[in-house]
Amino acid sequence: MSFASGVRGQSLAAKLVIWFAGAATALVLLTAGLLYLALVQGVAWRDDQVLMKRAATVRDLIRAEKVDVDYLDHEVSEDLEGPRQLFMRIAGPLAIGIHETPLMPEGLLPDRFPDAAVLGPDEFHYAQIDDSEGRRFRAVTLRTRASASAGGGFVTIQMALDTSLDSEVLAHYAELIVFVVAAALALSIFIGLWIVRTQLASLKRMSAEIMEIGHSTLDRRVSLEGLPTELGDVATQFNHMVTRLESAYGSLRRYADDVAHELRTPLNRIQLEAELALRGSRTADEYREALASTLDECEHLSSMVKALLFIARAENGRAEVAYEKLNVAERLEKIRVFFENSAAESGVGLTLECDPVLSLNADGTLFQRAVSNLVANSIAHTPEGGEVRLRAAADDAGVVVDVTDTGEGIAFEHQLHVFDRFFRGDVARRTDKDRVGLGLAITKSIVDLHRGRIALDSSPGAGTRFSLHFPAA
Ligand SMILES: Nc1ncnc2c1ncn2[C@@H]1O[C@H](COP(=O)(O)OP(=O)(O)OP(=O)(O)O)[C@@H](O)[C@H]1O
Ligand SMILES: [Mg+2]
Repeated sequence: MSFASGVRGQSLAAKLVIWFAGAATALVLLTAGLLYLALVQGVAWRDDQVLMKRAATVRDLIRAEKVDVDYLDHEVSEDLEGPRQLFMRIAGPLAIGIHETPLMPEGLLPDRFPDAAVLGPDEFHYAQIDDSEGRRFRAVTLRTRASASAGGGFVTIQMALDTSLDSEVLAHYAELIVFVVAAALALSIFIGLWIVRTQLASLKRMSAEIMEIGHSTLDRRVSLEGLPTELGDVATQFNHMVTRLESAYGSLRRYADDVAHELRTPLNRIQLEAELALRGSRTADEYREALASTLDECEHLSSMVKALLFIARAENGRAEVAYEKLNVAERLEKIRVFFENSAAESGVGLTLECDPVLSLNADGTLFQRAVSNLVANSIAHTPEGGEVRLRAAADDAGVVVDVTDTGEGIAFEHQLHVFDRFFRGDVARRTDKDRVGLGLAITKSIVDLHRGRIALDSSPGAGTRFSLHFPAA
């Protein structure tokens, strides 16, 4: 990943490098700028100290009891050695006269100094003076009263210190700052790129591993080895997601296999029936029988497809629930009456126990279908002499409907799967033409649609209880 392509694609790497380099450079710039300001102020302060001390010395001479005017001439040319020359002008009453450093630069005419007229006695007033030759001076004006021996009156002292060297040093320092900031920028971009490249290497590796995972390689996982914590968390979540996908994909595949298998058997039977009927000539009764058997298979297929469609719609939340206030006892009595004969034929007792005023907010048709599936199962799996009990009562959360039988029970290893589509227990039952293995799946879908839950309590040989918990409206 090149830096340029990163900028084009607004990549994370480019953003990180830009922010890192920007922050580092800004920090260097700020530090250097503050140091530069401190240096400028320090230099100016030192110059002012020099000027103040010299001005105070001259002022003391002027205020001395006996003013030595010749010495003043000596004073004004005292500091002409070296690069930091100090120019001075003393202007006082007649007894003192005017004393000026010889060859005073042209830029230091009296009116370039701070105006003495506005100053109080012994006040210092500083200023900056630039002359036409590019020299720069720090200047001060001081007004003081001469001693009585010098006739009193005000004396103006003007001093200017050549600070051109200071400016040169500062200019050099400023150049250095520009260089340091440029170097910091280049270095931080380089370091930023290096950090990002090394750190994002694991992200690249992870993305390559993710690319490898497809529908046929859902058993692969992203390796967590060497990943930084943050990426490790993402990879762990991703692996969990693939595990869920793998299981969902697996059950989808099994489901598709089951549907194909379940459809194939009745279709084969229909085909066989038709082939047999067409082979040679048949009597009208034989044809009628063949057609009736074909119709029977078609009904079986049609009810299976309807059931599958219903479950699919319920799972997608597209099945409609027509809520109404049901009298639970009435509905359960209808179911009891419906199964009365088949229970009697199987030699199984069927009883109902329910508060006659118990009511529930649910879809009446779906409610009956859910409970009927349970009752049908219980009758089918309870041997002669056994009993199936239908019971409903209110509980804390709503209404619970139990279907309990004293039948064969469900093996523990099957209990987890009884709600799966097409699950029919042992192999013998799988060949039972009338059983599809969708009853409990439909019942569970109905309960889920009502936001309730289904519970199973069964011990092999001792009987089974299915409980439907419907929440209060
Ligand atoms: N009360 C019960 N006692 C013992 N086994 C049961 C009972 N209810 C369900 N089962 C087991 O659970 C399996 C699934 O039941 P389910 O109602 O879903 O399918 P089915 O009865 O086989 O077929 P279908 O209801 O679609 O006609 C049954 O085949 C049976 O093995
Ligand atoms: Mg059933």
